[in-house]
Amino acid sequence: MTFRNISKEALAGSITLGLVFVAGYFFGKKKSSTMSISKSHCGGKDNPLMQYVLNHSMREHPVLKKLRLRTMEDSWNIMMVACEQAQFMANLAKLIKAKKALEIGVYTGYNTLNIALALPDDGLVVACDISEEYTNIGKPFWKEAGVEQKIDLRLQPALKTLDDLLSAGQADTFDFAFIDADKVNYDNYFEKCLKLLRKGGIIAVDNVLWSGKVVNPSPDDADTVAIDKLNKKLHRDTRINLSMLTVGDGLTLAIKL
Ligand SMILES: C[S@@+](CC[C@H](N)C(=O)[O-])C[C@H]1O[C@@H](n2cnc3c(N)ncnc32)[C@H](O)[C@@H]1O
Ligand SMILES: *[C@@H]1O[C@H](CO)[C@@H](O)[C@H](O)[C@H]1NC(C)=O
Ligand SMILES: *[C@@H]1O[C@H](CO)[C@@H](O)[C@H](O)[C@H]1NC(C)=O
Repeated sequence: MTFRNISKEALAGSITLGLVFVAGYFFGKKKSSTMSISKSHCGGKDNPLMQYVLNHSMREHPVLKKLRLRTMEDSWNIMMVACEQAQFMANLAKLIKAKKALEIGVYTGYNTLNIALALPDDGLVVACDISEEYTNIGKPFWKEAGVEQKIDLRLQPALKTLDDLLSAGQADTFDFAFIDADKVNYDNYFEKCLKLLRKGGIIAVDNVLWSGKVVNPSPDDADTVAIDKLNKKLHRDTRINLSMLTVGDGLTLAIKL
């Protein structure tokens, strides 16, 4: 690969990112967040290239758009999945003809709705969260989109729900899982999801770059340490094939072999 193949803009972007990173290095650890691949909530306001990507690819369902705009009014909206990432995961779910999916961490249910829309009429998303407050924001939109019957919301710790599913004999039956809840449990979620997935099923793990913090994890930052540890484990894991994508805040796709 030569630099000739890289557009001037991309190169300028990399150099800018490099400079910002170097500046961040000198101005203290807090600036390490500038290493993130800017996460979009379908606005891409400050980044023309991201705006171009969104302008030329997003086909957001009208109710998904409404839920996104409603979510933007919430003070925790930074937790919402990037919309182009959600569309990618919906395409992926369709590609593998997914019927049963797991959403670990629902928040206002943008991706829960997104996946429910991608599943056939007899499909099911088991949606795991502990917050009634957040999930209540999404519910009316699930209904409006006509897919609420495809969503089984379980309000209890996600580990408990995954154990319940395993006890109910549902191992090897799920097609797709999105892991996006508390980071310290990521490895536990991964192990249980892997059991619940059929061969050829896909686990998508969100935030695997954690705003760039994984490059130099601080030992007292339990979230970063947990993510970095899982990233290292997945790289050597022979039960899966994988890709680590620089979409959103970093997304690892693990395909069960
Ligand atoms: C990053 S948000 C999920 C975003 C969501 N996937 C979307 O499409 O926008 C993380 C969610 O995980 C939930 N959560 C935190 N700890 C949890 C646990 N132990 N079990 C289940 N959900 C949990 C939080 O309540 C929060 O709603
Ligand atoms: C994207 O679309 C918006 C709205 O139509 C427009 O204002 C903006 O210039 C576009 N940006 C790019 C980079 O295509
Ligand atoms: C997994 O990856 C290996 C190469 O690393 C490839 O030979 C194999 O076909 C892949 N399996 C699946 C199911 O994609």
